[in-house]
Amino acid sequence: MNFRWISERRRPIIPMSIVEHSLNLAKSTIAELALFGGQPSFEEALHVGRPNIGDRTRLLDRFNQILDSRCLTNDGPFVKEFEQRIAELVGVKHCIAMCNGTVALEIAIRALGMTGEVIVPSFTFIATAHALQWQGITPVFCDIDPRTHTLDPNKVENLITPRTTGVIGVHVWGHTCNIDALAEITARHGLKLIFDAAHAFACSYKGRMIGSFGNAEVFSFHATKFFNTLEGGAVVTNDDELAMKLRWMRNFGFTGYDKVSYLGTNGKMNEISAAMGLTSLEGLDEFIAVNRLNYLRYREELRDVAGAQVLTYDETETCNYQYIVLALDEAVTRIVSRDELWRILSAENVMARRYFYPGCHRMEPYRSNLPGLRLPETDRLAERVLCLPTGTAVTESDIHIICQLLKLIIGNAGEVRQLLDGLGTSFASAL
Ligand SMILES: Cc1ncc(COP(=O)(O)O)c(C=O)c1O
Repeated sequence: MNFRWISERRRPIIPMSIVEHSLNLAKSTIAELALFGGQPSFEEALHVGRPNIGDRTRLLDRFNQILDSRCLTNDGPFVKEFEQRIAELVGVKHCIAMCNGTVALEIAIRALGMTGEVIVPSFTFIATAHALQWQGITPVFCDIDPRTHTLDPNKVENLITPRTTGVIGVHVWGHTCNIDALAEITARHGLKLIFDAAHAFACSYKGRMIGSFGNAEVFSFHATKFFNTLEGGAVVTNDDELAMKLRWMRNFGFTGYDKVSYLGTNGKMNEISAAMGLTSLEGLDEFIAVNRLNYLRYREELRDVAGAQVLTYDETETCNYQYIVLALDEAVTRIVSRDELWRILSAENVMARRYFYPGCHRMEPYRSNLPGLRLPETDRLAERVLCLPTGTAVTESDIHIICQLLKLIIGNAGEVRQLLDGLGTSFASAL
């Protein structure tokens, strides 16, 4: 990938941190696992989304400019520059930067006039559903296609009622939705279409960058995303009128001095966040290269592990490779569950994440509102995936040790089961 504005001064494509986190090299017996009394494999916790910082000197230089100018927020020059660069990168006319991805979703939903019911996946971060419920709109949870982990378009169509006003697809892991099918269905029924692209910044669909599909797409630039603005988000769109409305709604509904024309809120991005965003943009190529290298290493190391696959990315598309998703087969989870594996890894200081367990429909307030709702594919997937640590803070040797641990546990699942059973009910109830 070659982004036009990125400085000529390229840094080598190696993890920025070459500090070794490990205490021990690979363990060879189950008894050495920390949960069963051994030393943790890592002294410091390894996380899924340890923030990427970028060039600290550039960042501090920008912070100083902001402090000198005393222009801290309210559509300042860094926010304007950031918006322009994001719009250029994703190939859209308008980028409206916001204080976070959740507020960006809320404002996009309101500006598009969604009401009544909106169809969303349950296999997503809770903010997708909350952004609707927060404003009195009912999220109608739809099951996913197990191959893509995104909305199943056939099931979407079955959920449309006279109260439906829109659909929100989520590009989970940067795997894009079946955009063509969703666009066709929503156009045929006269519905609005938003994509929650929190995971899909710098990804493409059929060669076109994510950002220009549907009525609008929404990014999150939260610190845990591979590209961050500390806290932040944006709505991107090609719709001039919508863009204008989004800008007004982001700023309390002000359409001029002392003139408020809409119900609005405070969704503004501040200058410090925009400075972080501009600095992160300069590191984008490197962040993605590191993510890709980590992904290839995990895949190679876990290639022959029966019962666990690293989810693949389509190399013909532009990807950000920000999530390493391990999908466990039932052959493994029947003996050692995903949650037990998660606990064993945590004891080793490998902080894997159970995204998106247990699914929005099984969390409040939705669980009480929708007792007994069954989404078989969502339920199955939410029980068997684990995201593994990656990003610039994770080294080649870290990945090797994590993979050795996984091979040891999965390859000796029967023995692990016996030791887990020996831990008794206190362990089981802690899950
Ligand atoms: C899929 C998804 N949607 C929405 C959000 C909300 O974004 P934010 O944390 O910036 O509010 C996130 C991430 O945090 C997310 O992963």
